[in-house]
Amino acid sequence: MTFSVAVSGASGYAGGEILRLLASHPDVEIRTVTAHSNAGQPLIDHQPHLRSLAHLTLQDTTPDILAGHDVVFLALPHGQSAQYTDMLEGVPLVIDAGADHRLTDPAAWDAFYGGAFSEPWAYGVPELPTGTAKQRDALVGARRIAAPGCNASTVSLSLAPGVAAGVIDPGDIVTVLAVGPSGAGKSLKTNLLASEILGTANPYAVGGTHRHIPEIRQALAAAAPAETDIRISFTPVLVPMARGILATSTAPIAPGVTDAQIRGAWESAYADESFVHLLPEGSFPRTADVLGANTALLGLAIDRAAGRVVVVAAVDNLVKGTAGAAIQSMNIALGLTESTGLSVNGVAP
Ligand SMILES: NC(=O)c1ccc[n+]([C@@H]2O[C@H](COP(=O)([O-])OP(=O)(O)OC[C@H]3O[C@@H](n4cnc5c(N)ncnc54)[C@H](OP(=O)(O)O)[C@@H]3O)[C@@H](O)[C@H]2O)c1
Repeated sequence: MTFSVAVSGASGYAGGEILRLLASHPDVEIRTVTAHSNAGQPLIDHQPHLRSLAHLTLQDTTPDILAGHDVVFLALPHGQSAQYTDMLEGVPLVIDAGADHRLTDPAAWDAFYGGAFSEPWAYGVPELPTGTAKQRDALVGARRIAAPGCNASTVSLSLAPGVAAGVIDPGDIVTVLAVGPSGAGKSLKTNLLASEILGTANPYAVGGTHRHIPEIRQALAAAAPAETDIRISFTPVLVPMARGILATSTAPIAPGVTDAQIRGAWESAYADESFVHLLPEGSFPRTADVLGANTALLGLAIDRAAGRVVVVAAVDNLVKGTAGAAIQSMNIALGLTESTGLSVNGVAP
């Protein structure tokens, strides 16, 4: 069976990456692409790297145009998805790349986003431990999926095995994360001009204000075996690379835990995963190793002098951080082989 697909936000970065991956997915037909200010223009004018889709024209993003497909991807600015999802009742599978359906706590939505709260959907990070199971279970047969925030899923994948196994204290997590400007989307912003970001590293959303904080807390709370207070100090830094995330997360070692138990928690969590790899002891990932890949690479160190576990994670924000996660989740929901259309290999140099 071939599934018909519509992708909204198709002129943007997330929509473009969803299209790039879907273009080589054997079980889908990309039938419709939509946009907003650029509707009416050829897709190829906005995504010149998508040569095989040169025949498509960007249409208006309306419920009528999106309806009538087997799968609809929404890759819109946050706060814009809910207006469409309410009217897409008849679409068997809707996947939102935005934040609108990620959070379960209305108070967290109010504090970090504001505006109307929308119902939470199945969270699209299959490999996340959720107590004794995996988030994958919630995606089987799902009709509505919230793809993750790129920073959030990188940090959650970094730490969830340690939280699930009780080998770290999730009440004192510190993460500093380098991210490229594609994480902020394609629309024109002064702070993202080349002259503002080339040759400099720029911290932003310092002091607990970044919107991905409640999403990380929610994912790690779901991993914990019992109700646990998740506290994280999260500092993102914008760095001059088009795409990629390098997250360094640390947390205190739980009392009485051995080094073997710590490493074993991550090894057992990800041993059978195709797209999340724990590197050998002493090895740490680079963003260059995951560009274009649906792969999260993790390096783990145990700093006994500091009493902390250190996890360094590299992810391509547009692949494993968004489009790859969305398509991997789609595959699970539709009963397809989970890795269809996704590559574990990156592009280098
Ligand atoms: N970039 C990432 O790494 C990343 C990672 C994870 C999640 N996400 C999420 O994915 C979503 C899209 O992000 P992005 O980075 O792709 O942003 P982007 O590059 O700015 O693209 C936004 C897209 O949405 C369209 N759009 C804007 N306003 C709209 C409206 N009112 N109604 C319908 N369409 C509208 C734009 O169309 P026009 O160009 O025609 O105006 C464009 O196609 C966001 O919610 C973001 O949080 C992004």
